[in-house]
Amino acid sequence: MRSVRIGDVVLDGRVVMAPLAGVGGPVFRQVAREHGASLVVTPLISAVGLTRGDPKSWEMARGKPEEEPRAVQIFGSEPEIMAEAALLLQDRGTRIIDLNFGCPARRIVANGSGSALLRDGERLRAIADAAVKAVSIPVTAKIRLGWNRREIVVIRTVRALEDAGIAAITLHARAKSDSPATIPSWEWIARAVQEVSIPVIGNGGIEKPRDAKRMVDQTDCAAVMIGRAAVGRPWLLQQAASILSGQTPAMDPPWRQRLGVALHHLTLQAETDPNNQEFFSARGVASAYLRGMPDARRYRPLVLRTSSYGELIEIIRSLRNQWISPHLLSTDA
Ligand SMILES: Cc1cc2nc3c(=O)[nH]c(=O)nc-3n(C[C@H](O)[C@H](O)[C@H](O)COP(=O)(O)O)c2cc1C
Repeated sequence: MRSVRIGDVVLDGRVVMAPLAGVGGPVFRQVAREHGASLVVTPLISAVGLTRGDPKSWEMARGKPEEEPRAVQIFGSEPEIMAEAALLLQDRGTRIIDLNFGCPARRIVANGSGSALLRDGERLRAIADAAVKAVSIPVTAKIRLGWNRREIVVIRTVRALEDAGIAAITLHARAKSDSPATIPSWEWIARAVQEVSIPVIGNGGIEKPRDAKRMVDQTDCAAVMIGRAAVGRPWLLQQAASILSGQTPAMDPPWRQRLGVALHHLTLQAETDPNNQEFFSARGVASAYLRGMPDARRYRPLVLRTSSYGELIEIIRSLRNQWISPHLLSTDA
């Protein structure tokens, strides 16, 4: 198997966990690593916040050793500030910087950051140049097709990024104006792969292990990035990694085991969040683990009504205990 190299960081597989604001904190990323992601990425963090010493921004940049290798994603519109933030992160031990050129959120694009930069190629290039020059660690970039379907800028953007010294590019194969449900245009991933010699990571619409294989077969991308489908289903990452290394992926685990993973996730989360700052997000993640479970419609509201980690963990534990393993069934009988 070809190994994926991002500057001096060599990945142990070809599946990357997507950055997910509001969801993908340190514990989520650790669980993703434990379940087969070869690289994890933090949600987007304000470069201005980092350079001003904003505690919230630095809290978001904090990681656990168990997550490595991990990229820290930053957003902003000023090349000097992006460069300064990258340097500060490097000084604090970050191994990879990822530049956000794809976020469609209004508060981000209103400042000329995120996907607004797909409409300002000169500034995007200046940010990439400044960040790459400022640090010795690899700098990567995450882009979309363009601002909308009439303004697809993939080819000139990937060329400019490679030219600036960017070490790898993730292409989310949707435009800024697309809805999250729009069918992604993987053909642009294939075109980007042909255009540059740095690794291209394909992203968008992977829901099943076989989608990961289809994406690699259709585009020849170096790695795939999985987002929403892995929330509450981290084993999808390992299944995708298996199929990409030529093995038959394991079946989805039985419910008892799935809820065991949820318990592990939530217990770690409770330990690392003594002030309950991420409790709402944890509740959402717990609810995602119940997706597809028989009677989930009855249990998800209970999960979403909990008000402490203790209560949440207790509900998941009792649900797990309802799923008696076949072994216990036969001894009980
Ligand atoms: C809740 C949520 C938060 C996201 N946050 C970020 C982010 O902080 N940075 C980023 O580059 N992309 C972010 N994305 C986009 C994802 O990383 C990914 O590109 C997108 O979901 C497409 O992949 P998927 O179809 O596998 O979900 C976010 C997406 C969602 C749904």
